[in-house]
Amino acid sequence: MPKIIIAIDGYSSCGKSTTAKAVAARMGYGYIDTGAMYRAVSLFFIQQHVALTNPKEVAAALDQIHITFNFNPRIGRNETCLNGLNVEEEIRKMYISNYVSEVSAIPEVRWAMVAQQQKMARRRGVVMDGRDIGTKVFPDAEVKVFMSADTAVRAFRRQRELLEKGELVDIEDITANIEKRDRIDTSRAESPLIQAPDAVPLDTTHMTIEEQIDWVVALADRRIAEL
Ligand code: DC
Repeated sequence: MPKIIIAIDGYSSCGKSTTAKAVAARMGYGYIDTGAMYRAVSLFFIQQHVALTNPKEVAAALDQIHITFNFNPRIGRNETCLNGLNVEEEIRKMYISNYVSEVSAIPEVRWAMVAQQQKMARRRGVVMDGRDIGTKVFPDAEVKVFMSADTAVRAFRRQRELLEKGELVDIEDITANIEKRDRIDTSRAESPLIQAPDAVPLDTTHMTIEEQIDWVVALADRRIAEL
């Protein structure tokens, strides 16, 4: 059976990562969480006090960043590692969410990450989620999904997710963060978040995660049958 690339783009907290991870598991594909890469860069920039407005500092910092996804057999999942250190938990925290859109709007950051992402999925059989996968990273992906959902639903899902990880954040703060990220992600000059012309829209407002997974797998199966 031919292997394909499945690109899942869309707004924050629509369930992209959870869906993409499960679709990859069901299809026996690899999964790459590109948001985690921008989050890891943000963490490094904060730790090293990198001035975002100084291109030389940004370029020098990018040269020192090595991001990998290491499989942890204990939990049966990949964990994001920054220069060999597991940062999976840290990069999901709210202070990173508040910083990451500014970092990911820097063209040099995007060029570096896109190049790495293209290398990571050199062989097909990959599900990748992010904001620019179908438009920039893999414009030739066989399956492109563009996810959206009502802001209130996204904020509620995000709050529940953070709570499960032990962080209690006000719904107003989460909503403000989601709206700010939507604004920056869709209006940045370098590869903004837009729906690729050949992407299939998926509004997840009234869907469960299981329904989202089934929907993407069915779309992928149909596409594979056409090849
Ligand atoms: O998917 P996420 O919420 O973990 O992504 C974090 C941020 O990274 C998001 O606000 C925008 C940015 N991002 C991006 O610009 N391009 C991608 N391919 C993935 C994420």
